[in-house]
Amino acid sequence: MREGTAPTIQRLDYQQPTFWIRKVDLSFDLDPAKTIVTSKLQVERNRAMPHGPLRLHGEELNLLRVLINGAGVSFRQEGHELVIDNPPDEDFLLEIRNTICPEKNTALSGLYTSGGSFFTQCEAEGFRRITYFLDRPDVMAVYTVTLRADAAKYPVLLSNGNLTSSGSLDNGRHFAVWHDPFPKPSYLFAVVAGDLVAREQRIRTRAGKDHLLQVYVRRGDLEKTEHAMNSLIASIVWDEARFGLPLDLERFMVVGVSDFNMGAMENKGLNIFNTAALLASPATATDADFARIESIVAHEYFHNWTGNRVTCRDWFQLSLKEGLTVFRDQEFSMDMAGTPSARAVCRIQDVRQLRAMQFPEDSGAMAHPVRPDSYSEINNFYTSTVYEKGSEVVRMYQTLVGRKGFEAGMKLYFERHDGQAVTCDDFAAAIADANPGSDLATRLDSFKRWYSQAGTPRVTAHGEYDAATQAFTLRLTQQTPATPGQTDKLPQVIPVVMGLLDRHGAALPLDANGATERVLVLDQAEQTFVFNGIASEPVPSLLRGFSAPVVLNDGLSDAALLVLMRHDSDPFNRWEASQRLALNRILHALRAGQPLTLSPVFIDAMRGVLNHPELDPAFKELALTLPGEAYIAEQLDTFDPQAIHAAVMAAQTQLASALRDDWAAAFEANQVQGGYTPDPVSSGKRALANLALSMLVLDAQATGDTVWPGKAYQRFKDASNMTDRLGALSALVNANAALAAPALERFHALFKDDALVIDKWFALQARAPEAEGRVFARVKALTKHADFTLKNPNRARSLLASLCMANPAAFHRADAAGYVFWAEQVLAVDAINPQLASRVARAMDRWAALAEPYRSAAREAIARVAAKPDLSSDVREIVERALA
Ligand code: ARG
Ligand code: ZN
Repeated sequence: MREGTAPTIQRLDYQQPTFWIRKVDLSFDLDPAKTIVTSKLQVERNRAMPHGPLRLHGEELNLLRVLINGAGVSFRQEGHELVIDNPPDEDFLLEIRNTICPEKNTALSGLYTSGGSFFTQCEAEGFRRITYFLDRPDVMAVYTVTLRADAAKYPVLLSNGNLTSSGSLDNGRHFAVWHDPFPKPSYLFAVVAGDLVAREQRIRTRAGKDHLLQVYVRRGDLEKTEHAMNSLIASIVWDEARFGLPLDLERFMVVGVSDFNMGAMENKGLNIFNTAALLASPATATDADFARIESIVAHEYFHNWTGNRVTCRDWFQLSLKEGLTVFRDQEFSMDMAGTPSARAVCRIQDVRQLRAMQFPEDSGAMAHPVRPDSYSEINNFYTSTVYEKGSEVVRMYQTLVGRKGFEAGMKLYFERHDGQAVTCDDFAAAIADANPGSDLATRLDSFKRWYSQAGTPRVTAHGEYDAATQAFTLRLTQQTPATPGQTDKLPQVIPVVMGLLDRHGAALPLDANGATERVLVLDQAEQTFVFNGIASEPVPSLLRGFSAPVVLNDGLSDAALLVLMRHDSDPFNRWEASQRLALNRILHALRAGQPLTLSPVFIDAMRGVLNHPELDPAFKELALTLPGEAYIAEQLDTFDPQAIHAAVMAAQTQLASALRDDWAAAFEANQVQGGYTPDPVSSGKRALANLALSMLVLDAQATGDTVWPGKAYQRFKDASNMTDRLGALSALVNANAALAAPALERFHALFKDDALVIDKWFALQARAPEAEGRVFARVKALTKHADFTLKNPNRARSLLASLCMANPAAFHRADAAGYVFWAEQVLAVDAINPQLASRVARAMDRWAALAEPYRSAAREAIARVAAKPDLSSDVREIVERALA
């Protein structure tokens, strides 16, 4: 949509539709240049609403005709609406015919072509780019879809539900008719047509029903679908076992497409995936890819209940399905990981992601509540706040009512709302009503502030021990910073899972029953909790498992953090202590404006982790990885990306050198023998070996040693899987070793025909640690590379998002060249794909917290973009919020 001022939609303006559409009969004559869409809608007035015209949404459509009950009718086109002023009072059949041009649809919303096949993406408002409709999630209909296309070019014709008939037509064309028995909103509609092949699996579920599972991909990609199929089967089994939610369709299809704006989409019975979130083989995908694919396949499958069977009344409720479904996929990944330690690794990774993405969002120009109050472009609100913070909110329900209580709440939610389009309030009510008298139910109204208040609450803890009375008093305070449009915040309901340790690390009993862990519910600005019978001064372990999405300042000394790091029974807090030790040093150096020097105590602590006989390699890798630069920036009122980078690099170099022999031993000790499997144990070993190798090559670069770079190159060449190969290549590139260039060249030659691997090749170079502007120059040169294109979102992101969002030191330059580049690229992408452009635009979210000279230069670049008259509504909203 190209409009100077897109209207702002307010949550509180919600009104029911004035008409319902109960049945949809769609037919497509598919052609890349001109597809004919015929839509027959069974429409009825919504008697609960006052009489009014019928207004249908439509964008980029070429309208051919409009009939009501078979006869012509007068209508007008008003902006993006088709208006019928005097529709019949009784139920009627509305027939619309229009054409669209899928091959010119570079926005990848609606019906488009990719690699010679047809695909759709309708969430949030893509259906209106296919035909005129009440394109809003509270209008749910039963769909029958007929597809007609050239049989040779498009042998596979898919839509939602069950195939009811198919056959051949004249002129080499064929057809297929699909019927989806479940009423659904238009955003869950999907069509796929092309020359695809499928991996198939028949399963019988617990409920005793037979189902056909299919994963459709391009011909050459079939052997890369095994992991996705296994993940799908595991997801089906898990949802039945954990939540009693069975698969409700005879056929469940998953399709991969190379051009896709997001990760994947949960269309009813026909999930469509970005190939990056679907295809994996040991030779081409890393352990992280395998894990991500498993969780995204699960996520989309879980939407079948949380999203599809129960959907959202309006888009402000997006987190109703997304927060809940992310929570479910996170729980699934933890259950799949198995051991407590492997579960903790999952949790740590999720929290790290939250802190790297959502915390900055919550403190930047785009800060918004989990349930936003207004938007001008809904696609801009598929955010880390709605998804990841939303998931943390669901996790807090579970913490407050317990796992059993949460399951009971879910059961009630489906009993009440199956087949409906509902709100976050309905979800909250179901969980609370299933748990009367619980810590949640008694504070439900204040708990729901998590949906309405933006910003990350700051919790401060202060402990006081009285040896005479053996009492430990814990004073907790909370405060949520102001965010755009929200200055005054009320206290949130914050579950603080906690325990107390003695100086030697032993867990102290918190009550007469000897419990060593408790959930404190902080729901006031300030509260005091007293623990009696505490024999010696304790070390508090607070917010275990990251029990709430807050920033905790507990003022613990290094000595106390060391106790937690070594002894806490909660693995999350052990990791957290290691991060805090590192963070404290980095922040100290930054605040003092001094070069960073790691203390022997810190080095010894890290050595202790690395050489620990019992800790899992995966955990060690996480504990020994320094906090991310974005997270460090979050701790400062104003930040200098170059100073942060310098401090992190100094810490890394010192850690590399001080632990040289230990890294070498860890590298040798964590080699995985035998064939590749992406299980938590072997992937943990590979992760630690790769970290060790990076450290060793980094150190070699400083000392002039050539042995480790040589070993890394050898490992790169001989690797039998992508995790090791990319790990070795990263070690060389990140250290700027002389062997990096030949390795990169060799890598490109090896994988030149595999787009997903070439994406990694671009991203790796764009994410390399900046030094003397080398990385930035390289990225600029790579935009001219024959393989680079802005048209494919994965490829565009591999360079642009990697540089602008994942590499602060390369992006934020004193000469502002990074911002000039950003502005150029945002405008160039905006002309092709507004959704993608607005993602890249968000690299500037935190400009106001930048130190000078970055701040002024960033503002100027944003203002230059905002001054362009024909921006998409997507980018316009981002830059205008940035400047507000
Ligand atoms: N519902 C999808 C998922 O999270 C994401 C679709 C987002 N689409 C969009 N155009 N923003 O699984
Ligand atoms: Zn989702």
